[in-house]
Parts: sequence; structure tokens; C-alpha cells
Amino acid sequence: MIKLKDLYFKAFISEAEIDAAVQKMADQIADDLGDDIPVFVGILNGSFMFVSDFVKKYPKPCEVTFIKLASYEGIKSSEDIQRLIGLTQDLTDRQVVILEDIIDSGNTLEEVHRIFENEKVADLHIATLFYKPEAYKKDYKLHYVGIEIPNKFIVGYGLDYEGLGRDLPSVYQLKTTQHMTNLVLFGPPGAGKGTQAEFLKEQYNLVHISTGDVFRFNIKNETALGMLAKSFIDKGELVPDQVTIDMLNAEVEKNSDANGFIFDGFPRTNAQAKALDQLMDSKDSQISAMIALEVDDEVLVKRLLERGKTSGRADDADEAVIRNRLKVYYDETAVVADFYRTQDKFIGVNGEGSIEDITERLCKVIDTL
Ligand code: IMP
Ligand code: MG
Repeated sequence: MIKLKDLYFKAFISEAEIDAAVQKMADQIADDLGDDIPVFVGILNGSFMFVSDFVKKYPKPCEVTFIKLASYEGIKSSEDIQRLIGLTQDLTDRQVVILEDIIDSGNTLEEVHRIFENEKVADLHIATLFYKPEAYKKDYKLHYVGIEIPNKFIVGYGLDYEGLGRDLPSVYQLKTTQHMTNLVLFGPPGAGKGTQAEFLKEQYNLVHISTGDVFRFNIKNETALGMLAKSFIDKGELVPDQVTIDMLNAEVEKNSDANGFIFDGFPRTNAQAKALDQLMDSKDSQISAMIALEVDDEVLVKRLLERGKTSGRADDADEAVIRNRLKVYYDETAVVADFYRTQDKFIGVNGEGSIEDITERLCKVIDTL
């Protein structure tokens, strides 16, 4: 991922893919033009890198020149009136191939055609490395297209965002969601995840998603997903990961303008952790860190027994039950920490002491992300 000014871009088309596409275009054009010596006309600024690589790959003699689009001086750029400058060569009866880095709306191409109307060229061929078919609004034929891409903004390999990124040897695509801080809050029962999440979501303007709460909400409101989940629960079966992920997806989508999310109670297995990675990836984002609250077992038992006096939760009332929950956590859930360790995203935080002290420790860690 890269950042240019205020925007984040993700890797999209590799150098090798670009190289293969340019090679293919050069071979194809050389085939079609036979022994005529063509004039390749690059449209600046964006096409400089493409033209340079293209002519190196062109297997026969050729001429190269450039033209540039410039806004009329004194006219507001919002009116978008442009003209081409730099066409000084006589192109009468020549095979002319326009080399464009990208064709988007086709406005530039229209301008090119207008200019060449007056030149008595033998043939005018249009070749573009990148092409956005969904954005193209004109009827001019595109004779050679390197790579078709979706209608999203790209940078690199000559293309810029506010002047930056032209120098990058590969192409990056604008991320649909900008930078988010997504935390997996982890720890055994009684570690203080829920308590701390309440503070953190305020402090960092994050959306707290507790899968338990999401389940209860969906079941109570009888949503399609809730009913589906209930059908498993009623049969005494575990809710399949995909159902949980679909619920999470809906929550994430509902809050797509959020600064990020705190996941609490999820993932509990490596399969779920993988699914969460995929979900984040589909949102052009990722998990920033797993933050684990580390608390000694005896402290946990004391806290849960204390909570049991007021929470009304049966599973908080009995010491044997509590110790079994901790055992289940260490046996089955703790392995998820390794999943994030291997990604270098695991951060352990001392979860003992006063609530304020723990919040402060968490903030110190989150501020470094
Ligand atoms: P047109 O809409 O086909 O006329 O394209 C106009 C110009 O917009 C192109 O020559 C590029 O300079 C620029 N452009 C269009 N799409 C992109 C993009 O995804 N990234 C960077 N520049 C772009
Ligand atoms: Mg251009």
C-alpha cells in the first residue's frame, strides 16, 4: 500500500504484467504495419514511460514524437477547454500511431482526432496501454488496447495523482475505503475486553462490534441472517463461520465511513481469522493489530465471581464453571493469537490494575499503529 498526499492506493498491476502487455502491443503493431516506418506520437505527460518502453520493444525502425494537452490560458479549468501543443512535424502520408497511457472518458482522444483531421496522414491508429471501458463515452475506434481496467483511479507508470506517482514502475489503484484502524480485542473471559472497548471506541471514534451482541440483535429483530443463525442454535449446532462472517460483513457495510472497527469475541478460530482477513481485504482494508489483554488466572476468577454477584450470568457464578471457561479459552481460542503473531500483528498488554491504567496502556499501543 502507498500514500500519495491524502489518499491511499493498493498494488494493482505489476511491472511484469505491464511489460508483457507492452511487448504484446509492440509485436502486434509491428505485424500490422509491415515495412512502413511509423511515427509514434505519445501524449504527454502520462505516456512518457509507456512510450519509452514501447519503442525499445518495437522490433523495427520507427520515429517517435510527443504532443501535449494544455489548458487554454486565462480560462477556468472547470470549463475544461484544452488544446494540443507540440505537433510541428509534417505527417503527410505517414502511418501515425497515437500512444496513450490511459483512455478514460475519451475526451482527450476526441481532441486528438480534431487535431489530426487537418493532417493528411495515411492512417491514424489509436493504441492505449490502459483502458476503462465503463468510463469511455466516445465512438472512436481503439485499435490496440493493452490492459482493460475497472473504472477506478490508478497511479504509477506515468500516471499521477496531483503530480505524484508518475515515477512508480508498477500501477496502484485507489483504495475504495481509506485508511482504517481495525483492532481485534483479545483475551480470556474477564480480561476486560468489553469494558476497554467502550473507552477505545470513544477515544478513536471506532465502531465496536461484539459478535455476541450482533447475534442477539439479529435474532431478536428476526433478520434473515438472525433466523438462519437461530436455526443452527435451535438444533444445538454451532453457527457456521460463513453465517457469522455474513453478519459481520453487514455490520461493517452499515458503518463503511467509520475510522475503523474493534472486533470483540471474534475471531475464535484460525478459520474465522482467515475469513476476517478476507472480509477486510474485500473492503480494501486489513486488521491493524490483535491486542491481547493479559491477566493472571487467579485475578480472572476473582473478577468473574465479583461480576457474577451483579451480572446475573449463570456462567459467572460458579468457580468450577469459570475455570472450565478459562480452560476452553486456552485449549481452543488462544491459538488464534499465533495467527496474528505470524503476521507480526500480535500485541500483548498487561490487563491488570485499574481500568484507567489499562486504558492508558492500550492507547499507548494503538497510537503507534
Ligand atoms: P480521458 O477522460 O480519456 O480524456 O482521459 C483524460 C486524462 O485523465 C488521461 O490522459 C489521464 O491523464 C487522466 N486520467 C484518466 N484516468 C486516470 C487514472 O485512473 N489515473 C490517472 N490519470 C487518469
Ligand atoms: Mg494522458
